[in-house]
Amino acid sequence: MSTIAKQNYRGRYHFSPQRNWMNDPNGLVYFDGEYHLFFQHHPYGTTWGPMHWGHAVSKDLVRWEELDIALAPDENGMIFSGSVVVDWHNTAGFFGEGPGLVAIFTHNREAEGNSPKQAQSLAYSRDKGRTWTKYEGNPVLVHDASADFRDPKVFWHEATRRWVMVVACGQTIGLYHSPDLKAWTLGSEFGSGTGFHGGVWECPDLFPLAVDGDAARTKWVMLVSVGDDPAYPEGSRTQYFTGDFDGVTFTPDEDSHVVRWLDGGRDNYAGVTWSDVPAEDGRRLFIGWMSNWKYANLTPTEDFRGAMTVPRELGLERRNGIEILVQRPARELRRVRIPVLALANVGKREVEAALRALRLESYELIAEVPSSISFAFQMRTGGGQETVVGVDAVRGEVYVDRTKSGRHEFHEQFRGVHRAKLLAVGERLDLHVCVDRSSVEVFANGGQAVITDLIYPDSASAGISLAAEENDFRLISLAIYELAPPVAE
Ligand code: FRU
Repeated sequence: MSTIAKQNYRGRYHFSPQRNWMNDPNGLVYFDGEYHLFFQHHPYGTTWGPMHWGHAVSKDLVRWEELDIALAPDENGMIFSGSVVVDWHNTAGFFGEGPGLVAIFTHNREAEGNSPKQAQSLAYSRDKGRTWTKYEGNPVLVHDASADFRDPKVFWHEATRRWVMVVACGQTIGLYHSPDLKAWTLGSEFGSGTGFHGGVWECPDLFPLAVDGDAARTKWVMLVSVGDDPAYPEGSRTQYFTGDFDGVTFTPDEDSHVVRWLDGGRDNYAGVTWSDVPAEDGRRLFIGWMSNWKYANLTPTEDFRGAMTVPRELGLERRNGIEILVQRPARELRRVRIPVLALANVGKREVEAALRALRLESYELIAEVPSSISFAFQMRTGGGQETVVGVDAVRGEVYVDRTKSGRHEFHEQFRGVHRAKLLAVGERLDLHVCVDRSSVEVFANGGQAVITDLIYPDSASAGISLAAEENDFRLISLAIYELAPPVAE
């Protein structure tokens, strides 16, 4: 029998709760100089349990300060996922002098012997999210037929001057609208016969993005997470659709009927975007829960369980004749970079020599390579462990191989190789990899091919090396930065 030494798997630049369980990001909103990150939280255990909303704030998306629990279960049930908006015009009447924050979330009531009853409810805060009052008229929206009715994401639709809610109803998305966040009308339903249906639909989001940054060509993006089903080794994952939205109906683009995944890895689920990011910033910022319902309750962390992806900037780019969702690490991460290595136009031997001396757990690696050549970086190496991040030029794919990445015995399907197709690649390919104590996130080809995977190597497995078969292989550039943000003040 072997003993397993306790390892520190808490990411240095990824948000995780101080203690106990976390799943979905909730209530992402920017208000008065702060990014809020609420999250599905079980404050008394390291596995899923009675759901509360935990809360953290950040001024820069990198250093997070965890605050008191925002919402706790009550007579209407547990507090499941949902969103927060700034009610700028006091439409709900909760604020004498607006604006203030309103949370729209799912109450999940489990009566013994019956299936759970889910309904949408409100809470509001007059003190920048520090304390919350639940609305006495809860719940504000119930569904007669569907047992699965949850995860409302609300936004202000300026063209129709009313609120819009997207909410998961079994295997479709309901699109409701409201003048005041309290009275909701069903406008349409999306998803029947479209996209992937191998699991329950959860955590939708709907938002506009300018195609190639051109505001005259704006499209709407619908995110839909799909729950784990034992029939699929991929577990829970997120699909997306592009299309048009008129305030009532989301009409997907023709080619959007083909299933499109947000991420080629296993560990980016229930992700949604920030509300109320100021127009002068203009970014659509996303964060996902870095786990998978297939093994989320079993991962080998000790006093906490669950982490978020890095915050990401989303974009829509037209490639190969279709609009593709691209993701890039939020630029704020650059502020905490400590330069380690910068090479340009280097051959295999020089790269090998430069990497040999490095010992790093938490870092970014950014490389530009000729797109015609297959190669790989072995990361977090040591004692027989390695996480391989590579480009397969023949198959036109980027991949992460975590078969030897470290601990995996907690679930038989954890080990594996995960791939994402590279589309419309030019002569050069860029590869941006974010590595931390228990994760790797790959953004390739301008953020078009993304792979997010958990890994559980020993802390001592901190080596990096290059694997390239061709001896005349050259990198156009290679930069490595340690990422070590100081803790929030
Ligand atoms: C998604 C999800 C949501 C639900 C929450 C419960 O991961 O299943 O649909 O609101 O988690 O914690």
